[in-house]
Amino acid sequence: MNYPIIRRPRRNRQSEAIRALVQETAVSVNDLIYPMFIMEGQGIKSEVKSMPGIYRYSLDTLLEELKEVTDLGIKCIDLFPNYSEDKKDTFATESYREGTFYLDALKAVKDNFPELALMTDVAMDPYSSDGHDGLVKNGKILNDETLDILAKMAVAQARAGADILGPSDMMDGRVGYIRQALDAEGFTDVSIMSYSVKFASAFYGPFRDALDSAPRFGDKKTYQMNPANVREALIEAALDYEEGADFLMVKPALAYLDVIKTLNQNFDLPIAAYNVSGEYAMIKAAAQNGWLDGNRAMLETLLSIRRAGAKIILTYFAKEFALLQA
Ligand code: PBG
Repeated sequence: MNYPIIRRPRRNRQSEAIRALVQETAVSVNDLIYPMFIMEGQGIKSEVKSMPGIYRYSLDTLLEELKEVTDLGIKCIDLFPNYSEDKKDTFATESYREGTFYLDALKAVKDNFPELALMTDVAMDPYSSDGHDGLVKNGKILNDETLDILAKMAVAQARAGADILGPSDMMDGRVGYIRQALDAEGFTDVSIMSYSVKFASAFYGPFRDALDSAPRFGDKKTYQMNPANVREALIEAALDYEEGADFLMVKPALAYLDVIKTLNQNFDLPIAAYNVSGEYAMIKAAAQNGWLDGNRAMLETLLSIRRAGAKIILTYFAKEFALLQA
C-alpha cells in the first residue's frame, strides 16, 4: 500500500553510497590542530587526569610522539608549556626570557619537523604567579601594561620558530599591538590566529589542571566574554579583523555553535573553533562509563563544529580522529 507522497526525503538515505553522495559536510585531518602539552624534564609522559589519552611530554618523548602524529597526517600542533610554580612571577618574565625550556623546545620541534605548522599561545597565565592572562595590580587586570609583555612573548615565540601565534588573553588592542611588534622585528610571515571570541567558560577546567594555571583569585570575567552574548562577539571579531588577524577563533565550540555560524556569515577570514578540554573530558568520561560510543560521539561533535561554519578545529581528538581514518 502506497500513499501518494511526492517528496520522500528517505530516498536520499537508502544506501551508504547515496548517503555519501548527499553528505554536505565532512571533517578532514587537514582541518585539525592538535593541542599538546610540554614540561621540563626527560623521559616524561604523564597523563592529565581529567583528560584520558592526553599527556604532558618532556621534549624527548614529545619528539617521538610527533613522529607518530605527523605520520598520521596531522599538519599543525598547538604547543602549551607547563611551568613549575618556582618559575612563575607577576610579570611572566619566563615567557620571553631567552633559553627557557619552552622556547628551546619550539626550536627543536621546528628543526625536527620543518613541515609542521607550529602554533603557540600568547597569554600570561602559564607563567604568571597570579594565574591570570594579564598583569595584576591591586587585584585588577591591567590592559595596556599587559600588551608590552604579550608583544615580547610573541616576538620570542616567533624567533623560536612559531608559525602561528594564538593570543588567548582577551586584552583590548592586543592583536594590533602584537602585529606591529612582529613586523618591527621582521616577522611579517608569522600569522596570528586570534582567540577573538573567548568566553568565560567552565569548560576550561581540565586544561587548567594540565598546566596548573588556574587563577589564584577571582575569575576571568573582566576580560573573557559573558556566555550570554553574541552581538558583542561581532565587535570583538571586527576589531581583530581590523588589527590584522589572519584567522578568527571562537572558544569553546559546542555551547557556542551559533557564535561560530554568526562569525562565518559576517567575516571572510578562516574561522577556527576550539573544542576545549572540558568538551573532550565529557565525552571521554561518558565513554569510559559505557554510557555512549566515544568514537561516534567524537565524529558527531567534530562534524557539528564544521557544519556550524568553522573551517579549522583545535581538538584533543585530533590524533584519535586521524587513527580512525588511517
Ligand atoms: C590560556 C588558555 C586557556 C585555554 C587555552 N589557552 C585557558 C584559560 O583561558 O583559562 C583553554 C583550552 C582548553 O580548555 O582546552 N589563556
